[in-house]
Amino acid sequence: MDSPIVLGIESSCDETGAGLVRDGRLLGHAVASSMDEHARYGGVVPEIAARAHVHALRPVIRRALEQAGLGLADLGAVAVTTGPGLSGALQVGLAGAKSLAYALGLPLYGVHHLAGHVAADTLAHGPLPDPCVVLIVSGGHTSLLLVRDLARDPIRHLGDTLDDAAGECFDKVARVLGLPYPGGPAIDRAARAGDPRAVPLPRPLPGSYDFSFSGLKSAAARWAEGHAGRELPVHDGAASLQEAVADVLTRKAVTACTEHGVGTLVVVGGVAANSRVRSLAEERCRAAGVTLRVPPPKLCTDNGAMIAAVGDLLVRAGARPAPLDVSADPSAPLEHAALHPVAPARARAARPL
Ligand code: KG4
Ligand code: ZN
Repeated sequence: MDSPIVLGIESSCDETGAGLVRDGRLLGHAVASSMDEHARYGGVVPEIAARAHVHALRPVIRRALEQAGLGLADLGAVAVTTGPGLSGALQVGLAGAKSLAYALGLPLYGVHHLAGHVAADTLAHGPLPDPCVVLIVSGGHTSLLLVRDLARDPIRHLGDTLDDAAGECFDKVARVLGLPYPGGPAIDRAARAGDPRAVPLPRPLPGSYDFSFSGLKSAAARWAEGHAGRELPVHDGAASLQEAVADVLTRKAVTACTEHGVGTLVVVGGVAANSRVRSLAEERCRAAGVTLRVPPPKLCTDNGAMIAAVGDLLVRAGARPAPLDVSADPSAPLEHAALHPVAPARARAARPL
């Protein structure tokens, strides 16, 4: 028998996403972004994001259903991001998901946003191998993980950022370079015409799986300030920063694979859409004999399909649904894919590789 169709809802930051997944297959998804409304402030304004989710949620769900040729009556479960993210933004998606689950009599699953980023890749490339190393690089997080069974096993952190996230570094340096928000895509575009060796930038924390991007950000800002009164070679600055970030990320990720004897690297999150991160990861994985998996750019940035993908894995693993009074957790640490106890008897302790 087919497993149920899972509706996934994402609203943790400035994207409102709805996605439909069954048996690991993406049936349809839609995303609305309030990015343009934040651009003039140079960053996401939480209240504006929350209000935009209120307006976008129903149309986005309707568009996802239309794309899949489905109606609400076809749904079998609802999954929603319960954290981490902006509190007000999370509340909107969670309230919507609870309402649907209650009205339709469906089980509800609370999903960790970052587990969603990991699961996004399964929609493009099938089930994840057990084990795999996952590099999550987004606007708020940078983590190197050892992932076993995403629906059942605890997620092991090999390294995390000690300060800024990789995407945050792109966004902040972009501002210094006079590039628009969001900075990552702007730096990616500007870097095409620049020399990645033009500006010497540090490669922080060599020899560790942890990351630090604030020194890199300050070095780029100092370089830009040094051009006061002269024209700033923006393309060279963008290319050099992008090269430094891509170098640090991919070097640590590939080393983690070889040192742990893991054959697959999965790179996910908004910064996985970066062209240099993708090409350098490919080059280094090929040289190390590691299989690289990166979702297509549309599934790298925030979307509802990735949350539906986790919901689908949880449903198929027989996980217990969340109670209808489950709360949002804006600063949830990434320990399990589900953000509520799914089945204590079945949850596994960490297993050695
Ligand atoms: O995963 P995501 O959509 O949202 C969070 O969960 O944070 O990631 C957003 C981040 C932003 O910092 C944005 O600048 C960055 O991903 N980003 C990129 C690119 N596209 C998005 N960074 C570098 N190059 C890109 N092409
Ligand atoms: Zn994200």
